[in-house]
Amino acid sequence: MVAALAATGFRPTALQAGTPPDLIAREGVLQLAPANYPETQVWGYNGAVPGPMIRLPQGARMTRRFQNELPQPSTIHWHGIRLDNAMDGVPGLTQDVVEPGATFLYDFVVPDAGTYWYHPHNRSYEQMARGLSGALVVEEAGGGPEVDNDEVLLIDDWRLAEDAQIAGGFGDMHDWAHAGRIGNWITVNGLGDWRKPVQQHSRHRWRLVNTANARIFSLEAQGLGGWIIALDGMPLDAPQPLDRLTLAPAQRADIIVDVTASVGEEAFLVSFERDGGYAIATFDVTAIARSERLDAPSPLPPNPVPQLGPLETARKAALLMEGGAMGRMGGAMMGGQMMGMREMAGAGKVWAFNGMADMPDEPLVAADRGETVRIDITNDTAWPHAMHLHGHHFRQIGSNGTAGPLRDTLLMDRGETAQIAFVADNPGDWLLHCHMLEHSAGGMMTWLRVA
Ligand code: C2O
Ligand code: CU
Repeated sequence: MVAALAATGFRPTALQAGTPPDLIAREGVLQLAPANYPETQVWGYNGAVPGPMIRLPQGARMTRRFQNELPQPSTIHWHGIRLDNAMDGVPGLTQDVVEPGATFLYDFVVPDAGTYWYHPHNRSYEQMARGLSGALVVEEAGGGPEVDNDEVLLIDDWRLAEDAQIAGGFGDMHDWAHAGRIGNWITVNGLGDWRKPVQQHSRHRWRLVNTANARIFSLEAQGLGGWIIALDGMPLDAPQPLDRLTLAPAQRADIIVDVTASVGEEAFLVSFERDGGYAIATFDVTAIARSERLDAPSPLPPNPVPQLGPLETARKAALLMEGGAMGRMGGAMMGGQMMGMREMAGAGKVWAFNGMADMPDEPLVAADRGETVRIDITNDTAWPHAMHLHGHHFRQIGSNGTAGPLRDTLLMDRGETAQIAFVADNPGDWLLHCHMLEHSAGGMMTWLRVA
């Protein structure tokens, strides 16, 4: 494999014996908007957006000393990693918040190869909107597929004011009750105009990560032909032809693409919005790598995720998602009391899970270790949601009983019901929440306990 780390602008962080590298959440500046605008004040890991890329071999130990230099408490969550519960980064559930000026040592093993990422899990609707997130890539133990170039494309959505600074209003209840904080400026790896030279018939592995607060991307590759080989870090049994690709907040897709455009032409990664499509990444075809396209890639080796047990005897739970604008919900339980929607909004809640707007004292489900768990989820709201389960990957079960690919985040459309199933093999307390960050803060959060 020809890794092209140097070309990505990321520096891989090497682990020195004895001293874990620092990951410092702090202020930084970035030329986020076009060059005729001022630089933007951001919050980044080590001051950078995206944060330092962490690249590790499968089965390795990930050790970082997190230092919080933000003006508010924070933690780091390692999204999609099936890690030790104490390292999951959830304040009040798996650890205390890391106060400004304090540090916390994250130390865990990465069992699965694939594309993951890290981000704060306290006031994430503000901390991530200000820029805090980074990629965590775990390399296949036997080496990845043969490619000319392997890189991460972190796709983000920013809400910028006229002066190119990050707009305030993080607690805007209108955003919270609607689609979340949708921005007005899209970047790839922190750049509004991400561009690089490529060669015709060269092969690339792109690891796409949606780090936006709330925006759902609908992507298409033009002048490129390819396959999806993994979703949310987990290999697909068979590569799927790359067509329109939907990437909800927190979701990832590993794609293999061959440049099919000719020398002198451009190839694009295009994002489709209501008002049409536009390029978020541009590739200038400057030379020819080889005379013909390579053969279709083989599937990646599977990760060591346990097989589902029989669903008939699985431990079952039901989750009803309600609330938000244009919904039917009249109110929900908050602090042990029934509250109307207006009262709830005054207290910062606009959604509910099973009739409760705050984090319940009791888990949605308590499973024995190794048990198969089945959750029936109903989205009785007027909005799509991106449901994320910590510490496990699940499969969506179709109406005919078929099991979909392993995922950690499921996009559910308005009015949709879904059944998910997973083996509860990782002991501890794990969140299940909407990854549209204004929605989880606004009431869409619950948890599971695995004994
Ligand atoms: Cu990426 Cu609980 O989140
Ligand atoms: Cu949501």
